[in-house]
Amino acid sequence: MKLNPAIQEIRESATLAINQRVSALRQSGRRIWHFGFGQSPFPVHPKMQDALRQNAFRKEYLPTLGLPELREAICSFHREHFQYEFVPDRVIIGPGSKELIFQALYLLEGPLILPAPCWVSYAPQGEICGKPVVPVVAGKTDGYKIRAKQLRAAGRELPAGQKIMILNSPNNPTGAVYSADELQDLAQVCRELNIIVISDEIYSHVCFNGAPAKGIGLFYPEGTIVTGGLSKAFSAGGYRLGFLAAPAEMTGFIEAFVTLASETFSCVSTPVQYSAVAAFSDDSDVMEYIDQCTSLHHAAGEYLYERFTEMSLGCVRPEGGFYLFPDFVPFKEPLGRLGIAGSPDLCRYLLEHVDVAMLPGTDFCHRAEELTCRVTSVDYDGGAVHKASVAHPKLDRAFIEANCHNLKAGCDALKEFLESL
Ligand SMILES: Cc1ncc(COP(=O)(O)O)c(C=O)c1O
Repeated sequence: MKLNPAIQEIRESATLAINQRVSALRQSGRRIWHFGFGQSPFPVHPKMQDALRQNAFRKEYLPTLGLPELREAICSFHREHFQYEFVPDRVIIGPGSKELIFQALYLLEGPLILPAPCWVSYAPQGEICGKPVVPVVAGKTDGYKIRAKQLRAAGRELPAGQKIMILNSPNNPTGAVYSADELQDLAQVCRELNIIVISDEIYSHVCFNGAPAKGIGLFYPEGTIVTGGLSKAFSAGGYRLGFLAAPAEMTGFIEAFVTLASETFSCVSTPVQYSAVAAFSDDSDVMEYIDQCTSLHHAAGEYLYERFTEMSLGCVRPEGGFYLFPDFVPFKEPLGRLGIAGSPDLCRYLLEHVDVAMLPGTDFCHRAEELTCRVTSVDYDGGAVHKASVAHPKLDRAFIEANCHNLKAGCDALKEFLESL
């Protein structure tokens, strides 16, 4: 048997692989503090579950674009919360935003610029599509956000013509959120250099400054494709529902998308699309719930940030999502004596000897010597913690320590290890 050469160099997604490794270790009786997998821990809101149940009898295929009332709901939701002017005929529903990003990359010509550190799947997806992948690495002192001048310099190095960039804010793996001014500056460069942006806004409602995160599509509507879905703010990753919204200016794009989708996934599960209507209907109960979940993500992120800084790890304070990106540079010398030269060695060592699971920065287009790790802040029982939080107005350090035991225990284990160096 011969495999397609486009796939031969690609490994299994690092996040899924670590989750399986942690499950195997846990099954063998090891107690692991899991800072590796980015799944929202909260239960799906009962109204979404009810809608799923009530529509379980629907067995017919839906149009490839998706359920019309869902696309309408997504447009109203994004007008209300993000000031986006999506149009239902240019919104497509897919089996997760990951698949939609992949199909968009497949359809669009041009090299792929990746502001890095960036999510694990973008570079492999670009490579599978045969694209040159060009990481533009943001500095820690810039809060891991690329500057307009960096993007301009990288774009000018590339051949003239269309380019693609995937921008992700709030960001996995760093927790960074781009401000309106920063987005405006990037939009200007994208316009100058003919860069189409895929704006991955899957965490846009998990933003810690009290309002949903702004997207670059506000400042560059004609050149921005927006993706999002149920997986993060609505805690329903396994429902596998995402959306993609394209601007009218990209003539023929959505039509080509429908052709590709109709020859591949056909449409997303019909009952799940009805459940998504309940999510995007701006129902006050659902909105209150996702805001409370965001407050808990904020409290957990803040807790880890404080603990990491107290242990002298380098760390940028997270502004959204459920991730942090600490570095172990202050411990370079003693780690070197243990034979740890880069982030993959470090993560292997931490899993084997400290019972802490994290992903190495190298999985996120970050150099091994930077000794960075991607940490997730979700290793707790979301249902119980949510319930406890409702009666507890202050989601402070004491609350996290009393309710998110694994976060505390994982930090304690890490602290003890660092103190032993
Ligand atoms: C940055 C980012 N984009 C996209 C996705 C995929 O989301 P979905 O479940 O909609 O495919 C994830 C999931 O981890 C993510 O972290």
